[in-house]
Amino acid sequence: MGNYRKYSDVNFKKIYGYKSYVKVSLILGTRPQIIKSALLIHYLAHSPDVEFVLVHTGQHYDYEMSSIFFKELNLPEPNYNLGVGGGSHGLQTAMMILRLEEVLSKERPDMVVVPGDTNSTLAGALAAVKMGIPVAHVEAGARSYDMRMPEEVNRRVVDHISSILFAPTRNCAENLRKESVLGRIFEVGDTMYDVLLRWLPQVEKSSILDELGLERNGYIFLTVHRQENVDEYERLVNLLKALSELRDFTVVFPVHPRTRKRLEEFGLMPKLRELSHVKVIDPVGYIESLALIKNAKVVLTDSGGVQKEAFWLGTPCITLREDTEWIETVEVGANRLVGMDSVRIVATVKEIIERESEIRKRIKEAPNPFGDGRASERTVEILKQIGERSSRSTALSV
Ligand code: UD1
Ligand code: UDP
Repeated sequence: MGNYRKYSDVNFKKIYGYKSYVKVSLILGTRPQIIKSALLIHYLAHSPDVEFVLVHTGQHYDYEMSSIFFKELNLPEPNYNLGVGGGSHGLQTAMMILRLEEVLSKERPDMVVVPGDTNSTLAGALAAVKMGIPVAHVEAGARSYDMRMPEEVNRRVVDHISSILFAPTRNCAENLRKESVLGRIFEVGDTMYDVLLRWLPQVEKSSILDELGLERNGYIFLTVHRQENVDEYERLVNLLKALSELRDFTVVFPVHPRTRKRLEEFGLMPKLRELSHVKVIDPVGYIESLALIKNAKVVLTDSGGVQKEAFWLGTPCITLREDTEWIETVEVGANRLVGMDSVRIVATVKEIIERESEIRKRIKEAPNPFGDGRASERTVEILKQIGERSSRSTALSV
């Protein structure tokens, strides 16, 4: 009976040509996208006036790169998993578009939401816009100004074909204005910050430090996976050289699957394993990752998300890149850009450790440019308002 009522309600609305609800499809495929979408999914899936379709491209597929986050963050199973997996950029993106077209033709959402800057973001936006479905980009306007990064290409394209742009910071909104994007810009805050605040109480209870035999403030947390870093033999060798010189410190290194593959292909895994002060582990869950960032002396990373999380959790960060889209963290002195040069990495770690209390104080006192922790809520409200309007008139056009 319950099912019957729901079914007839929906059809009734459609037959009479009005919709008091909006049909939204969110497309994701990678670890950071699942994390940054957690509260968006929660609000969209529980809104009575939203019909929600969650699509996973399958770009990330290992348990610890995908399912673990659905479990930890209490997310509903995706309605579709397109099982695309790895491959060259062209193949991966093309397969996604092909399969997304089928899903979107069947589901006909009023709008498609794409978070972040991955190939899943690009494929989702392209598939939708070509079918006349308005695109909303979450985390719009982030720029590294480094076109060697596939993510920079993805962001730029997606921002210029989106109807709705949700900027996480003022700087991101300004970037979009400077580029004269055609869509509407909303500065809502950073959805990753909301997710961090929501799950912080669980971080406090995590036992990961004990499990790994770590002391609070007694280790360096390392993540590295950027294509331009790990696909180059020389750069990986530089990183290993830096690690070997940091032998006075314990280093915790959850290895991303791309990095693991490259270390194995380049024959560098035995060299890494020789470094007994480096704990080489599989990727960890979100709560564990936050616990490891929060309690680290210093974070060494090339991840976008980890740079922000280090800032929010008050841990000094050293970024293994020459540029960052999260320039705000550098401006307040919480983050240093050092590239993959072993001398710079080692010198900066030592310098930061010497000035640790001063840097931690600066981070603590710095204003947070990433919003008030309600970005996801705000984003869903805007989507509902715009979606309802657009489904009553013609589709929202760019
Ligand atoms: C992707 C995103 C990057 C993001 C990162 C987050 C693009 C262009 N890149 O990079 O922006 O920062 O995710 O982690 O979209 N692999 C596995 N198991 C998995 C996932 C990947 O073995 O669960 C392997 C793939 O088969 C592939 C390699 O890792 O060989 C890279 O995966 P891919 O999704 O293409 O790119 P990432 O480096 O993960
Ligand atoms: N993360 C995780 N386990 C790990 C490493 C990272 O859960 O072993 C989390 C991290 O806390 C952050 C997100 O993954 O929330 C960042 O994703 P990633 O570094 O893969 O991508 P990027 O942010 O660079 O796009």
